[in-house]
Amino acid sequence: MKGAAPGKIILFGEHAVVYGEPAIAAPLSKKVVVTARPGTGKLDVRLPRGTKLPAEHRAAGPAALLERALGDLSVLDVRVDLGVAPMAGFGSSAALAVAALIARGVKGNRRLLDRALAVEAVAHGRPSGIDPATAIWAQPIRFERRGDDIRVRKLAFEPFHLVIGTAGVHGGTAPVVAQIGELREAAPKLIGSAMSTLGEAARAGATGLKKGDAVLVGRAMRIANGVLDALGLVGDPVKDALAHLHAAGAEGAKMSGAGGTGGAFVAIFGSAATARRGVRALAKHGIHAWHEPYGV
Ligand code: MEV
Repeated sequence: MKGAAPGKIILFGEHAVVYGEPAIAAPLSKKVVVTARPGTGKLDVRLPRGTKLPAEHRAAGPAALLERALGDLSVLDVRVDLGVAPMAGFGSSAALAVAALIARGVKGNRRLLDRALAVEAVAHGRPSGIDPATAIWAQPIRFERRGDDIRVRKLAFEPFHLVIGTAGVHGGTAPVVAQIGELREAAPKLIGSAMSTLGEAARAGATGLKKGDAVLVGRAMRIANGVLDALGLVGDPVKDALAHLHAAGAEGAKMSGAGGTGGAFVAIFGSAATARRGVRALAKHGIHAWHEPYGV
């Protein structure tokens, strides 16, 4: 029994998607692969070089996720190749849940999404479903959720070039989502308007991607990042990375995923050559990032 699913990068709409705004996400070339066979409860988790598993209090570990996806682990031997760094904002727990469900034989995008949401709830608290949806559809998507009504659409896009990486330490998704929930209770109109702006950035970003207009996508990313920063979601290490990316010629750059003290970031570049320049600029400052082309 084997299943594989990609990690994800959110281009637009993190946090706002929890409150019904649209979000745009794309799969990573990095994947999680789960292999399970009848056995005696052995669990072998292989991590990307230089990464560690999160402490169990900050996120559900692979065993808890696998147990919910695969059932009784004591009668299985399971190997997990975690090609997606954990606790970075790349959707590793959703990719793990989806890969395990595929290994178990669950089929059909909608069925997989329902089951993955139930599994991921252990890791996440109040997941919108964008992480598993991107892992399942495995192509750039527009995602929107109002209550139980989840809409996932393939995104129409012209080729585009992202630079993706991480900087600093991510504190876990559930606490950050809860923190935004508290802010929203304290100032519903203010936080509501911040969320609408993030939703508008997602709509404009989708238009830019469809037209192949990297300048528009970049502008929408900059605006979204300004709002996310005001919400306290862009940590200093991510700010530094974004500044290096802009200096290297990015059309725009922003934090990605839950954010907080650190975590993932994403930038859009006008060409493969400029994107590679962005990766080199970050490497000079010891920040790990890579070029991810779409539709090329
Ligand atoms: C996490 O990848 C994205 C958030 O919007 C939470 C969610 O949508 O489940 C922060």
